Amino acid sequence: MSTDSLIPPHGGNLVNCLASADKAAELISTAAGLPKITLSSKQACDLEMIAIGAFSPLTGFVGKADFEAICKNTKLADGTVWPIPITLAVDDQTKAELTEGGQAALVHSDGTLMAVINIEEIYAHDKALEIPNVFRTEDDAHPGVQAVKEEGNWLIGGPIQVITVTPEVEPGEQFTEFRLPPAQTRKAFADKGWKTVVAFQTRNPIHRAHEYLTKCSLEICDGLLIHPLVGETKPGDIPADVRMECYQVLLKKYYVDKCTMLTVMPGAMRYAGPREAILHALIRKNYGCSHFIVGRDHAGVGDYYGTYDAQKIFEDFTSAEMGITPLNFEHAAWCNACEGMTSSKSCPHGPEEKIFLSGTKVRELLNQGKRPPQEFSRPEVADVLIKWAAAEATVNA
Ligand code: ADX
Repeated sequence: MSTDSLIPPHGGNLVNCLASADKAAELISTAAGLPKITLSSKQACDLEMIAIGAFSPLTGFVGKADFEAICKNTKLADGTVWPIPITLAVDDQTKAELTEGGQAALVHSDGTLMAVINIEEIYAHDKALEIPNVFRTEDDAHPGVQAVKEEGNWLIGGPIQVITVTPEVEPGEQFTEFRLPPAQTRKAFADKGWKTVVAFQTRNPIHRAHEYLTKCSLEICDGLLIHPLVGETKPGDIPADVRMECYQVLLKKYYVDKCTMLTVMPGAMRYAGPREAILHALIRKNYGCSHFIVGRDHAGVGDYYGTYDAQKIFEDFTSAEMGITPLNFEHAAWCNACEGMTSSKSCPHGPEEKIFLSGTKVRELLNQGKRPPQEFSRPEVADVLIKWAAAEATVNA
C-alpha cells in the first residue's frame, strides 16, 4: 500500500530540514564563522521535531506574526491551527551578537553543532502574551510557566537547516531502534496495510486504564501506535528509559504484535493541558495517524485544568482544520462489581467498587517493593518500576 492512503500531514507537506551530506559539510564550514546560540534541552527537542517534520508545517522557529497569532487565536498567521509557539528564546548577551538577515550556529549544550538558522526576525519575547494564553495560568509553580519565565527576553525567528539531531558527547537515551521520524512511521503503516491508525501519547508507564483506552481504540482502527514522549519532562516524572522497559514488557505479553507499534516521540512536555492536547494530536497527524486518544486531564499537571478541558478544546476547530480525529475517553478504572475496566459511561457502580490509586500511593508501594494491585498495573510493569525504585533509593541513600 502507498503512503497516499494515509492522512496528509498538517499543512499538506511533510517538512524535512535535515541537510544532505554535501550540504551539511558546507554548513559546518559556514558555521565556523557564525555567532553561536547554545540550545536549552527544550529547544534541542524542538529542533529535532522541526527537522524531522513532526512539527510540519513549521520549517523553523516562529516569527512575530505567527507567535502573536498562535497565542491569541491558536492559529498560525496564515490560519492553520497551531496551539503553542515553538520559539528560540535567547538572552540579552546572545541577542547582541545576532543580526536580522544574518545566520547563527545552533549548538547543543555538549558543544555539538546541530544546525544553522537564517535569522529573519529578532523580536521581544512577549511572555505576558504567551503565558496566560498558552497555559491558562501565570502561576510560577506550573512547570511550563516557570520554564517560559526563565527563558531569554528575545526570540529569534527563521528557518533552520539541520546538520544532525544527535548530540555527540551526551547522546543520552536515543532509543535509536524506536526513533522513527514521521516519514518512516508512514512507510511502516503503509507496509502493514494500515489506513487508520490511532496514536497514544503518554509520559507515564502504561497502567490498566491506559491499556483499556488503547485497546478500545484499536477496535475501531487498523493499527495502534504507542507513542511515548521521550523528550524533556519535569523532575519527578518517570525517566524515559524506565518507561521504555515497561512498554516493552507490556506489549510482549498483552498486545497483538501485528496490530501494534511502539516508537518514540522526541518532543518536550510543556504541561499545557488543552493546548498541548491539540499539539500532541497535530504531531501524530504528521506521523500518519488518523485518530488520537484524549483521556482525562491530558497533558495536565496539578489542578490547573478541568478533567475534560483537553477534550473540549477540540470543539473550537472544524474536523477539516484538524484532520486527525480525537477519541475522547472518560476517566477509566477497574470496577470490582463489573470485574473489568470501566468508565462512568459503561458502569453504574459507585466509587466504593472502583480501584483508584493516587500517584503518591503507587510510588509508596513501589518504594516498599510492593506491586500495586493487578487491577491497577500489570505485574510485569510493576516489577520494572520496583527495580527502578530500588535503584533510585540506593542512589539517594
Ligand atoms: S499525558 O501527559 O501524556 O497526558 P499520561 O501518560 O498519564 O499523561 O496520559 C496518557 C493519556 O491517557 C492521556 O490522554 C490521558 O488523558 C489518558 N489517561 C490517563 N489516565 C487515565 C484514566 N484513568 N482514565 C482515562 N484517561 C486516562
